Amino acid sequence: MSHLGIFVDRKTLSNSEQLNALISCRDIAEGMGHDVDFIFPVDIHKIPKMDALFIRARTDPLNVTYVAARMAEFHGIPVIDDPRSIRICSDKVNMYSHLIKKNISLPKTVFLSKTHLTVEEVTHLFDELGSPLIVKEPSTSFSLRVEKVNDIAGFFRVARRFIKLSDWIVVQQYIESRYDWRVGVLGGKLLYVCKYTIPSDTFKIQASVNGHLVYCGVESISPDKVPPHVIDLGIDAANAIGRGLYGVDIKNNNGDAYVIEVNDNPSIESGEDDCYPRVFEQIVSHLFTT
Ligand SMILES: Nc1ncnc2c1ncn2[C@@H]1O[C@H](COP(=O)(O)OP(=O)(O)O)[C@@H](O)[C@H]1O
Ligand SMILES: [Mg+2]
Repeated sequence: MSHLGIFVDRKTLSNSEQLNALISCRDIAEGMGHDVDFIFPVDIHKIPKMDALFIRARTDPLNVTYVAARMAEFHGIPVIDDPRSIRICSDKVNMYSHLIKKNISLPKTVFLSKTHLTVEEVTHLFDELGSPLIVKEPSTSFSLRVEKVNDIAGFFRVARRFIKLSDWIVVQQYIESRYDWRVGVLGGKLLYVCKYTIPSDTFKIQASVNGHLVYCGVESISPDKVPPHVIDLGIDAANAIGRGLYGVDIKNNNGDAYVIEVNDNPSIESGEDDCYPRVFEQIVSHLFTT
């Protein structure tokens, strides 16, 4: 019998949605004939005994999930997310560079270092990319360090804050849309699609508004109701990163689709898979056949 490890941490288990999704994943894997162990960071030494590893904790090259992914890879154990995908997706400069290399449709995107932060350069950016602009700190996640700026003074307020955290900042053309498509891709194939509807008081899928956290609405969408070019773009973008599990965020504006981000470790606990009951089964069988 083969052994699946599901790597979790206390944060993964901080709400009932996450707990239910993990239990459902375990039950499905057991139903397929596998033994399943939840592995917490203190149990990391158990990884070499597993036949496959599914990481369901926040991935970052600077935390223990990355060590878990590297350990699995070192021992030849199939792992989602693999270390390379974690490295690429955790750094937007790296992630966008992979997409640009494969000619994936993106909002106009520029990387700026400290030396480029001059009034002339920024004036030129507003001329070239339009207004407002989106500014991102490359290691952002959960929309934390993504801001919309309308003028040069606003740009410098944000850029000065972000450039203290990183050698580069990302500046992007703003793409108007009330929701992000999220295309889930596994091993180069479509896994699920959902819509993340942006809360009315912000432009991003989650934000702190007047001290309160607001979250996007989630709606799973069956493939026949998704524009085919959105699905194709999601798959192409995922393939530009690797062959693991990815959630690709796409904005569709007047028929033109743009990749906003490729995420490793996409969340699958908030109803993303309602129209796709086989998501966990497909992930488990992918792990045991690669
Ligand atoms: N170029 C853009 N135009 C419009 N909205 C954007 C743009 N880039 C990001 N956003 C919004 O901000 C959110 C967070 O940006 P994202 O690049 O995904 O950063 P993070 O890694 O922090 O989630 C996105 O889900 C999207 O709704
Ligand atoms: Mg995002």
